[in-house]
Amino acid sequence: MLFCWKQAKMEQKQNRKNKWGGAMPLLFGTSKIDSAGILEIGGIKATELVEEFQTPLIVYDVQYIREQTQRFKQVFEQEDFKYRINYASKAFSAIGIYQLLSELEISCDVVSGGELYTALQAGFPAERIEFHGNNKTAQELREAVAAKVDTIVLDNFDEITLLSNLLKKRKVRQKVQLRLAPGIEAHTHEAIMTGQIDSKFGFDIASGQAEAALRQVLTDESFELAGVHCHIGSQIFETASFGKAVWKMMEILHDWQEKYQFAAAILNIGGGFGVRYTGADNPPAPESFVKEILLEVKAACQKYAYPVPEVWIEPGRSLVAEAGTTLYTVGAQKELPGIRRYVSVDGGMGDNIRPALYQAEYLGFLANRDSGGDTLAEKVRLTGKYCESGDILIDELFLPKVAAGDVIAITSTGAYTYSMAMNYNRNPKPAVVFVENGAAQIVCRRETYADMMRLDIPLMRK
Ligand SMILES: Cc1ncc(COP(=O)(O)O)c(C=O)c1O
Repeated sequence: MLFCWKQAKMEQKQNRKNKWGGAMPLLFGTSKIDSAGILEIGGIKATELVEEFQTPLIVYDVQYIREQTQRFKQVFEQEDFKYRINYASKAFSAIGIYQLLSELEISCDVVSGGELYTALQAGFPAERIEFHGNNKTAQELREAVAAKVDTIVLDNFDEITLLSNLLKKRKVRQKVQLRLAPGIEAHTHEAIMTGQIDSKFGFDIASGQAEAALRQVLTDESFELAGVHCHIGSQIFETASFGKAVWKMMEILHDWQEKYQFAAAILNIGGGFGVRYTGADNPPAPESFVKEILLEVKAACQKYAYPVPEVWIEPGRSLVAEAGTTLYTVGAQKELPGIRRYVSVDGGMGDNIRPALYQAEYLGFLANRDSGGDTLAEKVRLTGKYCESGDILIDELFLPKVAAGDVIAITSTGAYTYSMAMNYNRNPKPAVVFVENGAAQIVCRRETYADMMRLDIPLMRK
């Protein structure tokens, strides 16, 4: 089922007889297309989901998330490493996902008081939560300490002072890690590259800031420095980038052991494992990323005679992106002869800002029926309903003739979509549903107009 985009275009020329005009959809997990041309996820037809929950609707394939989690876990266990998988909940934060991942016995990373609050409300154990962020407020740090989160990842000098004062006032100690910027430039979009020197995140190694932070933290008894962290970027396809990051971090740790007799109990190598959005994406399997990391950790520890640390990773996208499919209903169309056809759906940049934000590409297809004998697919631009010319979900999509009421599915929408959703034009946020073994459960209900107004306060009139 996996076609690269160029291949798909060639296919299209050769064979216009399938309902996608040759550009096959990418299907993940339990998703399949039945003989009537209807998409099915978790044993439920898209048409049934749309009837029950309306559109736009983000559908999560729970079995996929279970399996993906297991794939990451398995390698650590086979290799007999102490480890922690911290789901980077910025990818999708809602009570339902925290509950699911807590049941799967993994940990999570939160980056705001809001994510922390949601995780705690979901019953996520504080001892499996790490708190990240480049500008944690005093209030957020108070909340994190009060909740007894396992780890706070220190990001900058101001935060060291802020947290230290807070801990002294409360007479408590806090387990922390130092976030380092290792100077590794992973091949990915600039907006999601974070490990390079010129970044707002973490302590820079080259300029000596990281070492200065280490000295400060080691001499402050409020802190229990458990390890170091780096996150080199997102949507990374080269396992070697993680290997490089491991070596860079281990070099530093070796140096710090010699100079300060500090041995890190934890090496946290962050997230960023790539996923498939279109046929052009060919990321390594989760297992390959973990294998590479562990291989290099072992090799570096051997070289430096360093005690093998516990290894932490923080996958966000790679646990949930491919699990998600967004269903939309087709509305208006506009034909510009000789230029293109615009097909508009009932969602758009409000439920998926990624195409507008960083030209993210997706594949979409007709999901509620067969092409009805229409074998001539047409190249269309799939647009949303928001008042922005940039509200384009898919710039070029091959579709058979569609009509108002048809359902379009866009796959691989489980990460950084709902968590970035907004109410531009006062459009309500979509509903989110989990599906598994033929059962569907709503985890985020569709916003109502009244929900959107709940923070508005009318002007007082005499
Ligand atoms: C510190 C940190 N960890 C983990 C992640 C998750 O990245 P991804 O969703 O690409 O796995 C991010 C993403 O920005 C991050 O900043």
